[in-house]
Amino acid sequence: MKIIDADLKLIYQILSTIYKDFDISPVVAELGVLKGENALAIYEFLSPKMMYLIDSWSCDATLEYESINSHRGWVDEPDKYAFYYGGSLKSQLTFDRLYEEACANFINFNNVEIIKMQTLEAIRELQKKKVTNFQLIYVDANHSYEKVLDDLMFYKPLLDPEYGCFQLNDCCHSKAGVNQNLGVLEAALKFCKIADFVPLVAVNRDFTDILFAHKSSLMIDYVDKIFNNNDLSFVEVPDQFLGSLTVRVGVRPNISFI
Ligand SMILES: C[S@@+](CC[C@H](N)C(=O)[O-])C[C@H]1O[C@@H](n2cnc3c(N)ncnc32)[C@H](O)[C@@H]1O
Repeated sequence: MKIIDADLKLIYQILSTIYKDFDISPVVAELGVLKGENALAIYEFLSPKMMYLIDSWSCDATLEYESINSHRGWVDEPDKYAFYYGGSLKSQLTFDRLYEEACANFINFNNVEIIKMQTLEAIRELQKKKVTNFQLIYVDANHSYEKVLDDLMFYKPLLDPEYGCFQLNDCCHSKAGVNQNLGVLEAALKFCKIADFVPLVAVNRDFTDILFAHKSSLMIDYVDKIFNNNDLSFVEVPDQFLGSLTVRVGVRPNISFI
């Protein structure tokens, strides 16, 4: 696993270089879109053949979060994050506005399809459309352990066996993450064991992004070659360190394996 001290967009640049080298026009998806800011970055860097943006844009997820966490004194009340969502997470109006914003951001993009559904329901929709062989699925919807594990397990068959990767946001342990009961890192660890996936690149940032691929994927070799053949700064650590990844916040956040 290579650790890069750069913005998560460097991962998109690396993927874009690989796709160009192999003349691949990628099919990509983002699970959890909010207003589409990260989706716009993915689009800009990867110039996808087709992009699917999947989000329920529903306050039901907040009610579920509350029912699971309300007795846990260490977990924040959802509206502590109202600033990020632009309004109360308990109000459907907030999510309706985010949905409208996401639609407006992609209004003139004829190769972007917005699917307003829960992530698992959306799989049936993708199957109906006969969409398989995704080169990249960005996983950033419900962040609880159970839901992330489901997203990974149920979307895995939709990945291109040779070039397919998952990129996970918030894949770390941190104090801020504990306060939101994030289970992304724990789900990723379980998934890697169940499905023989490995971490390829992690960004040295808070709310860490990590790129994963199957052990037999061509991407392991190709990502390695990009690092070897370009002037990119990185530190390599054993994949087994993934479980101890912790964000330490000093003057700036850094990831640590101690
Ligand atoms: C952290 S935000 C996504 C941010 C976005 N990826 C970005 O970087 O700009 C999480 C989003 O996931 C959506 N979400 C939560 N649970 C979901 C589920 N089970 N199915 C689909 N979307 C879900 C929420 O509506 C919210 O918009």
